Parts: sequence; C-alpha cells; structure tokens
Amino acid sequence: MSRMIRIFDTTLRDGEQSPGCSMNLSEKIEVARQLETLGVDIIEAGFAIASPGDAAAISAIAHTIKDSTVCSLARAVEKDIDAAYGAIKDAVDPRIHTFIATSPVHMQYKLKMTPEQVLESVAHHVAYAKKYVSNVEFSAEDATRSDWDFLCRVLETAIKAGATTLNIPDTVGYLVPHEYANLIRYIREHVANVDDVILSCHNHNDLGMGVANSLAGIEAGIGQVECTINGIGERAGNAAMEEIVMALKTRKDYFDADTKIDTTQIYRSSRMIQTITGVPVAPTKPIIGANAFAHESGIHQHGVLNEASTYEIMTPESVGVPKNAIVLGKHSGRHAFEERLKDLGYTLTQEKLDKAFTKFKALADKKKTIKDRDLEALIGVVPVSGPERFTLDSYVINSGNTITSTALIKLSKSGEIFEQVAASDGPINASYKALDMIVGHDIELCDYSLKALTEGEDAQCEAVVKLCIDGAADTVTGRGVSTDIVEASIKAYINGINKFLND
Ligand code: KIV
Ligand code: ZN
Repeated sequence: MSRMIRIFDTTLRDGEQSPGCSMNLSEKIEVARQLETLGVDIIEAGFAIASPGDAAAISAIAHTIKDSTVCSLARAVEKDIDAAYGAIKDAVDPRIHTFIATSPVHMQYKLKMTPEQVLESVAHHVAYAKKYVSNVEFSAEDATRSDWDFLCRVLETAIKAGATTLNIPDTVGYLVPHEYANLIRYIREHVANVDDVILSCHNHNDLGMGVANSLAGIEAGIGQVECTINGIGERAGNAAMEEIVMALKTRKDYFDADTKIDTTQIYRSSRMIQTITGVPVAPTKPIIGANAFAHESGIHQHGVLNEASTYEIMTPESVGVPKNAIVLGKHSGRHAFEERLKDLGYTLTQEKLDKAFTKFKALADKKKTIKDRDLEALIGVVPVSGPERFTLDSYVINSGNTITSTALIKLSKSGEIFEQVAASDGPINASYKALDMIVGHDIELCDYSLKALTEGEDAQCEAVVKLCIDGAADTVTGRGVSTDIVEASIKAYINGINKFLND
C-alpha cells in the first residue's frame, strides 16, 4: 500500500496574512468548510494571538469543522499558547502549532537569544502546549538556514517535551530540492526517536521552488506537507496544494504516495479563494489556470481530439473543471439553476440559494445566455451571512471628456433612502466620492480592477476593490458584478463597505 501524506492547509493563516488576502469571519468559515470537503487533514485556521478577530474566527471554525484537525499558530510564548488553546479547545481534534526561529540570523537579530536560550524555550513551551492538548506541532522557523546539528538538538528537545509533529520550514524559500531532501535525510538519521513523530515540510516559494522542495521532502520521508490553495502566502507565496496533490496523483508510479484529497474539489476551492480574496491566478498557473487544459496549436488540438493523453497528463474532470454542458437563460427554472450549481460543486444553504436565484433571474433579463463564470460570479456576490446593510437603489452619471463627471447615488438601508451628489475627474471617482459622503467613513481605495467575465457584447464585468476603511490595518475586498461597468464598480464599493460594517 502507498504511503499516506497528510495535507496541512495554511491558506487561512500563512495565506491570509499576506497582503491583499485578508478575509472576514464568514468568508473564513466558508473556506474552512470547503477545505473539509476537499479532504485536508489539518486546517491551520489562524494565529489566535494576532487579534481578537483572528481568535474569534479560529474558534468559530473549531466549532464548525468535524472531519479535519483544527490548529492555531502560537509563538513559543505562554500567552500565545494560552490564546491558541482558547480558540481551538472545542475542536473535535485540536492542535497547537508552536514555533521559534533556530537560524543564527534570526536568533541574533530577531529573538536576541542565545542557542541555549532557544533550546530552553523549546523544552518549556512545547511542554506548556502539551498540558493543553495531546496534538502539538513544533516548527523550527528558518530551519533551512540553521546549523544542522543545532537544529537536530532542537528537534530532539521538542520530541522529548511531547511534540507529535516536527515541521522543517524553508521560511525564506532558499534551498534547492536536492539540499532540502538531504536535510530531511540528515534529520532522520541524527534525531533520536524521530520515527515516533511525523516530519513535516513548509516551503516558501521565493525562488519558485516551494512545490519542488515539498516533493523532495516527501521523497526523503516527510509525512505531512504544509501548503495553501493557489499558493497564496507571504511574499512569493507558499507551496501550492493543488500542484503537490496532483503531482503525487499523476506521478504515483514515481512517488508511491497518496493523500486524502478529493481532487475533484480542487477547481472549486481555487475559485473560492480567488473570489473571496480578489487575487486572481495567472492563466498559465499549473492545474487551475485558465489555460491549464487549453490546447491552442493545431497540432496539439488534433492530437487531443484523437487521444486526450497525447497532450494531457491529467484530465480537467479529475480536478473538477466543470464540463460545458448546459447554458442557462431566461427560461431556465429553479431546478436547472440548482442542478447546474451542483454540477459546479456548490451546495448552498436555502437562504443563499434563494438570494442567488433572485439575482440569477434579474441577470437573465439582461443577458441572453448565462455561463458558468456568470453563475460563479453571482454566487460570489451573494452575502454569506449578515444583513446587506446598504443596497444600491439608483444612480445617475453625467460624464464626458469635456466636462467634470458628476454622480448622483441613492442607497437604501433598512427602508430609508440616502442620497448624495459628487463631482470628480471620472464617473467612478465621482460615484465613490458620493458613496463616501453617504456612509460617513474615511475610505481609501487601495486597489481597483475590472474585467469581463465572459466574451460577447452582453458580457458581465466584475469589479474588485480593496478598501482601507478608517485606517484599519487590513484592507477589505469588495466585488460587484453587472453588465454595466459603472454599476459593477459602485456595487463592489458598497460590497466592501457592507463587509466592513458587518465585521
Ligand atoms: O514560514 C514559516 O517558517 C512559518 C512558520 C511559522 C511555520 O510560517
Ligand atoms: Zn510560512
């Protein structure tokens, strides 16, 4: 039988802490549910000490998830470990993940600790976490730039103190695969009782080798891989889960290793992260990029038509790319709508389904054919929970290249109408100025993008904004979809404001 590799997903921690990827509470719960459906073994739900919001989200996930271990990160500091335990304690299988840096540069300049002090801290804090839970993971931050013998002493100390998983992060994405594999082999040969624990890898992608290093780690005997959906994460990101899982599956002949991941949920998971964060993946991104299964050249198309395996080493179906079966339109009923959503992998609550169907009908009045991308966009803008505080009632724009643009915007909230007029150097700017005046918050537009979702004259477009509201540390992502670019932009701004207010 093949070796089982545990998948530890850190999309909600290492992924979420990277710029532009922040999520609100309901989005984090939705992602955690999807990760459970996907079959990940461990969900790292956040860093409890980081903020009360983080702790609340981890706790909500701990109460929701039944089939995956739920974990919180904690520095090797008692108050961090207390916070982590407080957040995960009600999970079916709670894990505390504590870490301290072990490389000379981190110990000297960041921790200002001697190697001996680091060893003492490991012994004390792993044991401290162990008093709370049996499932304790220890990470030696910047392990790959640490002295190998010192690293082995640290790992041995962690095992003695009760750690059940030892993580060897390539924190700055520095090693090449051969070196990473050698380090893992060295640890396996030199750390006493290492076979009693699970070794884990956590590889950043600064030199584009996060996935390759993880696979090298697996070859060298790693039993857990830490990764994120779409490879989101600090700087150049973390190793991408979809690439690791599909490499193991497609090259089972070589790795002889399996995961519990339901690969048909990969596409949906990836789309969910893109939608929620507003961070798209490149068309050429392996496994989930728009071109990953597209064959442009005549020779390739001819080959694939005759026999798919000529140019396809895995099928689109195996990662859950939906087949272009039916196209919906204005005469499609609720049944067809629900069935298509199911085919796309969405199981929505009744409340969300009702809201989505109303939006679908409104769209079908404006657009002849509704494609899968339209449906996905529509689902993405239906609020997951909480009231829609402000909704767009109407807008009138006056714009041109010889006048200053003006916008008259009317919003409704709890049955009341709020209205403002503003002028600026473009229709979107003028609209946003009017919206700022209505909601009365200090809003900075940090990022704005607009793209057509499908081809054709009646295509919908999607606007994504990142807003910094009242000086908050994290930006909030707002999305709006419409066949009209100004309306999509206004809706995106309102969506961001509502998310901020609901949080
Ligand atoms: O990259 C890293 O070293 C980390 C640790 C906290 C596991 O994210
Ligand atoms: Zn990391």
